[in-house]
Amino acid sequence: MKFRTRLVLTLSAATAVTVASAFGTASYVVERSEERQLDEALRAEAHLEAGEIAGQHGSLHVNNRGGPAADDIGRLKKFAVIYDSEGRVVDITSTFASGAPPFGTVSHPSGSAFDFWYGTDHLRGVFVAIPENQHHTLLLAAPRSDLEKDNEFLRQVMLVAALLSIGFTVLVTWRVVRRLTRGHEAIADAARRVAAGDLGARIALKGGDDEVVQLARDVDEMVRRLAILVEGQQRFVAHAAHELRSPLTSLYGELQLALRRSRTADEYKAAIEEALDSAKRLKALAEDLLALARIGADRDAPQTPVALDEVAKSAAAWVAQEAARRNIDLAIEADGSSVLGHANDLERLLRNLLDNAVRHSPDGGHVRVEAHSEGETVHVTVVDDGPGVPIEDRERVFDPFFRAASERRREGGSGLGLAIVREIARGHGGDVSVEDGPGGRGARFRATLPAAPSA
Ligand SMILES: Nc1ncnc2c1ncn2[C@@H]1O[C@H](COP(=O)(O)OP(=O)(O)OP(=O)(O)O)[C@@H](O)[C@H]1O
Ligand SMILES: [Mg+2]
Repeated sequence: MKFRTRLVLTLSAATAVTVASAFGTASYVVERSEERQLDEALRAEAHLEAGEIAGQHGSLHVNNRGGPAADDIGRLKKFAVIYDSEGRVVDITSTFASGAPPFGTVSHPSGSAFDFWYGTDHLRGVFVAIPENQHHTLLLAAPRSDLEKDNEFLRQVMLVAALLSIGFTVLVTWRVVRRLTRGHEAIADAARRVAAGDLGARIALKGGDDEVVQLARDVDEMVRRLAILVEGQQRFVAHAAHELRSPLTSLYGELQLALRRSRTADEYKAAIEEALDSAKRLKALAEDLLALARIGADRDAPQTPVALDEVAKSAAAWVAQEAARRNIDLAIEADGSSVLGHANDLERLLRNLLDNAVRHSPDGGHVRVEAHSEGETVHVTVVDDGPGVPIEDRERVFDPFFRAASERRREGGSGLGLAIVREIARGHGGDVSVEDGPGGRGARFRATLPAAPSA
């Protein structure tokens, strides 16, 4: 059931119960008070009549004057009987048309009023003793119909009033609840659209309660970020597919060409070597993609303190041969600081940075790795004296598959190196950025990582 409907039903039920009990109490009090008035009038009239009967000589008679006087309709119809001590009827008013009720069925203590039926008439009566006469009693009764008509009218008025007030409550609550839940409905609607795949859905609530407006804003912001994330992933998958296709296409082409006619053993060897090159590129790309996926998934794996000088040394070993070939000076300066994390990932981070630095440095250039801690943070920098990274590319170089125009012609390399670096740095609770090298020349890549707590 909708929240709105439930709230309206609850409030209406509460109103109905309150109104019914208030009106019920009021009508009970009014009915009792009217009945008491009737009883008093009956008793007064009965005593008057009994007094008159006591004054009679010979046989006793009831008079045919009307019954007790009611406020607005004059005297009520009177029903009176004189019974003797045996319960026999001595005299009776003509209103008891089919005889007096048997004494046994109506007998009550003197002075206490009671109800009884006479044919279809519902009567209220009272017995009184006749003064100075122990042998006779007088029953005086009057119809309850006027009293009941009044009560019935009162009940009808109250019923109408109760229905009106419940109707009014339903109307007012419905309107108020509608206003209150408008924001929630807009949020639910947007959530449904997002769930159905529409990441452009926004709530954009204009007015309403502060909490709901804030909630709507937060949800909008969440969807906006989700859209960016999904778009990024779609772009990534498209890039990945594209990057995988080029080496696959050349591998396929080379193998097809080799098989087109029969060749000498040397020609086959050359063709296989070319195919192997393409396969190597494919393998490297697949490994990078896997690394990128794994780093994201491995965030919760247990971490250990990793000494950065060790990591820097083993990363440098990967590029040492190429550096030596091109006469590049490779220096490491680490102050023994360590980071809480995964040694393999941190080594890969430095390896990717060093690979780029060596590649971009001129022959005979300098590449320098530094690691030092500053308070809670460890700064790891890799500096080269190559061309540096243009300001406009300094954010984009960390995007997957981004390669500067000058790099695109290069065989090998997919543009995943720095994306992996950033993923590792962030996975360790840090980040990475690039700036100018010393003296405005070259590039300085800086990873900031939280220091491992000292033992
Ligand atoms: N030290 C550097 N000096 C100048 N430009 C750099 C440097 N390091 C990276 N870049 C630029 O950033 C781009 C992205 O680098 P990244 O390491 O992600 O990819 P890559 O080196 O081209 O390929 P891969 O690392 O996958 O072999 C490079 O193509 C290059 O244009
Ligand atoms: Mg690289």
